[in-house]
Amino acid sequence: MFSRKIIKRLILALLLACVCYSVFFVIYVLVKYTITGRTNTKFKSARDVMGLENEVRVFNTSMDFSSAKQIHKCVFLKVNTLESTPICVYDPEVDLFVSKYIINVGSWEKDLILEVVSILRGDPSLEFLDFGCNIGVYTLAVAKFGRRVTAIDANRKNLEMLTTSLQMGNLTGMVTLIWNALSDKIELVGFKERETNVGALQMISGVMNNSIFTDENSSIAIALDDLMPLLRNRSVIIKMDIEAFELKAMIGGKKFFEEVDVKFLLMEWVHHKDSDDGARIIQFLTCRGFQPFNPIVRSVSLKIEDRKSWPEDVLWIKDLNWVI
Ligand SMILES: *[C@@H]1O[C@H](CO)[C@@H](O)[C@H](O)[C@H]1NC(C)=O
Ligand SMILES: *[C@@H]1O[C@H](CO)[C@@H](O)[C@H](O)[C@H]1NC(C)=O
Ligand SMILES: *[C@@H]1O[C@H](CO)[C@@H](O)[C@H](O)[C@H]1NC(C)=O
Ligand SMILES: *[C@@H]1O[C@H](CO)[C@@H](O)[C@H](O)[C@H]1NC(C)=O
Ligand SMILES: *[C@@H]1O[C@H](CO)[C@@H](O)[C@H](O)[C@H]1NC(C)=O
Repeated sequence: MFSRKIIKRLILALLLACVCYSVFFVIYVLVKYTITGRTNTKFKSARDVMGLENEVRVFNTSMDFSSAKQIHKCVFLKVNTLESTPICVYDPEVDLFVSKYIINVGSWEKDLILEVVSILRGDPSLEFLDFGCNIGVYTLAVAKFGRRVTAIDANRKNLEMLTTSLQMGNLTGMVTLIWNALSDKIELVGFKERETNVGALQMISGVMNNSIFTDENSSIAIALDDLMPLLRNRSVIIKMDIEAFELKAMIGGKKFFEEVDVKFLLMEWVHHKDSDDGARIIQFLTCRGFQPFNPIVRSVSLKIEDRKSWPEDVLWIKDLNWVI
């Protein structure tokens, strides 16, 4: 009698536990589905639209963005003796550096662009990778020079402008545009445009709540390794200007640096003179056979111990036969 009662209770308890567990499980699945369904909306749509396995988003340069509201006007990009080509710019009142300077002077960072072109001239197999292409001064100059370019930017507005510039210059066939940020992993990144420098962005990593971001102020970060299939075995020169995400991009690019023949890497050094990131960037690159040079004076390599007094931009060179 007694034991039967206990068994009955036990069975009841077990049944209850089962029911509880099932209910809990159903709720768990529902909640999980809702949450991931929501946070992955952009990832999924990107994947579906592009039909790509990963999150690399190739921008459609056949589309017409010529009436995009951020295009203030289109002027000619003139870099010394290089052939000129149209470039669309922001309102100089909101883009006090790049756009304003291009409107007034016709170019931006022309000494560095000329260095890149002179390197390309010396090696017809080199392609140009423009990481953080902004409105495309380097991309347009190099494409007009006649070399293939792959350009990446997190800000869709920049790519809409650059697409328009490429179409006006009949250069879309030379350039692949990619709408992503670069980081050490795939993640949603938000950004804020700086008030005086629209092209430059303040990146916000680890965005969890994407409902406060739109396509205008967020992008999907990919790792450099995600680009490797597009560029495997090619010889490239990279210009990297990605708002202090340089180290992250390198960490996410270990395979990339093995399988893409990166011969030159031009990067801003001004943020890294003192930083820990700077030390780790030096380590990453020197381990892979790169040496730092002043991009304008390529005859003398820079000394690692002097990194605080390196110029604002540094050119890392892997193949030393190239030093002039
Ligand atoms: C790119 O845009 C053009 C013009 O809108 C369109 O005809 C074409 O189908 C698009 N290509 C892709 C791959 O979406
Ligand atoms: C545009 O470029 C193509 C080759 O890429 C050339 O065949 C065509 O004539 C060019 N059109 C104009 C208007 O320059
Ligand atoms: C995300 O942001 C929206 C808009 O600000 C807010 O309504 C929502 O509660 C936030 N969600 C979470 C999980 O923080
Ligand atoms: C992103 O842009 C939208 C409008 O395009 C704006 O409503 C929203 O506040 C912006 N989010 C952030 C975090 O700046
Ligand atoms: C890349 O180059 C390596 C060495 O030259 C070769 O073994 C490999 O097959 C190449 N891969 C592709 C995809 O071309």
